[in-house]
Amino acid sequence: MKNKITLSLLAFFTCTTLAINAAETTPSNNFKKPESAVKYRQSAFSLMAYNFGDIGAMLKGKKPYNPASVIIRAENVAALSKLPLEGFIQAEGLDQRDALDKIWTEKAQFNEKMQTLQKSANLLVVAAKSGDKKTVQKAFMETGKSCKSCHDDYKKD
Ligand code: HEC
Repeated sequence: MKNKITLSLLAFFTCTTLAINAAETTPSNNFKKPESAVKYRQSAFSLMAYNFGDIGAMLKGKKPYNPASVIIRAENVAALSKLPLEGFIQAEGLDQRDALDKIWTEKAQFNEKMQTLQKSANLLVVAAKSGDKKTVQKAFMETGKSCKSCHDDYKKD
């Protein structure tokens, strides 16, 4: 009986997760003011940079290399990489800070670069879980490239 309950619970959660994954990837935004969207995306980038930077510090030997920490950091980067896009909205008179105007005319390319980041961050998680430092190094560089590629095109210096 107990097993049956556990199994149906498991089935329920699996179905729910699948349904969520299949749904629209970004929920409709819930910002009270347009300025909040800017704050939201900048916060997401800051948190991402903090977690990503810590992997860099370990790879560069600025602090001891800890494979378990690398997994946590990589998972954080992967989760956070899904957030900034929602904060890129247009509104009358909104100060877009360091976001260049061409984001709005090239939204498809911009979104694609965000997807490239998400994919490389997912591969960084896989690399971290392999426990092999060289593999992590490679995946770290790839992820870093995806940051730079977007900043070069869409962020003010
Ligand atoms: C698809 C484009 C894109 C990708 C990919 C991207 N960024 Fe950015 N990033 C931006 C833009 C645009 C801004 C400027 C946002 C603003 O000023 O509101 C920004 C701003 C930032 C900021 C400054 C946040 C602040 O408080 O002003 C940091 C830090 C940052 N990004 C780090 C990263 C890191 C680290 C990565 C990769 C792991 C990354 N970004 C990937 C587009 C991107």
